[in-house]
Amino acid sequence: MTATTPKATNIVWHEASVDRQARASQRGHSSSILWFTGLSGSGKSTLANAVNAALFERGLATYVLDGDNIRHGLCKDLGFSDADREENIRRIGEVAKLFLDAGVIVLTAFVSPFRADRDKARALVADGDFLEIHCAADLAVCESRDPKGLYAKARAGQIKEFTGISSPYEAPEKPELCLDTGAQNLEQCVAAVINLLEERGVLKAAA
Ligand code: ADX
Repeated sequence: MTATTPKATNIVWHEASVDRQARASQRGHSSSILWFTGLSGSGKSTLANAVNAALFERGLATYVLDGDNIRHGLCKDLGFSDADREENIRRIGEVAKLFLDAGVIVLTAFVSPFRADRDKARALVADGDFLEIHCAADLAVCESRDPKGLYAKARAGQIKEFTGISSPYEAPEKPELCLDTGAQNLEQCVAAVINLLEERGVLKAAA
């Protein structure tokens, strides 16, 4: 049995009387999933937090789901085997879908190294609701930054299955946005994400 095999029987979906559309009308903006993916140290969390702050500043309802933080709670039972990463991303896909329904612009910052797992998260929602943003800093750049000292430990064999070193990273083939977070500064990256949200009609373009 996999985590996605339903276990419970006799459960019936309950329709909510306040739906996503009603929330969007009340708030004046629609919701969206911004799925940041990339190597550890590629700047996903930094960028997601900066975009979140820019959106919050505009008075929008937003929330960041961050890999390291979520692994302190909801996903604290998971490690870094392929199967555990799959389950991690499955849970986050489902949580992000709830935020979408709640009318919130949700930003997820997970390595999410496997294309199939990201594609499954994408498939949970309608076309256009899932915007994949590849933080595409080179491994060499991420390793030279090594903000948490994890690459050094991985090279020394102290961390097994470390993405980019001893576990694969499958880059998105057609992300909605690909940012060279090794070369572009934070301000440029934030502007590119805001621009994407305007293009996709999630945000109204600033007059
Ligand atoms: S994911 O692969 O399942 O999407 P997630 O984003 O939740 O990973 O967690 C990645 C974070 O955990 C990294 O930013 C890093 O700080 C830490 N980490 C610890 N061990 C590993 C590992 N083996 N591979 C990748 N990241 C790791």
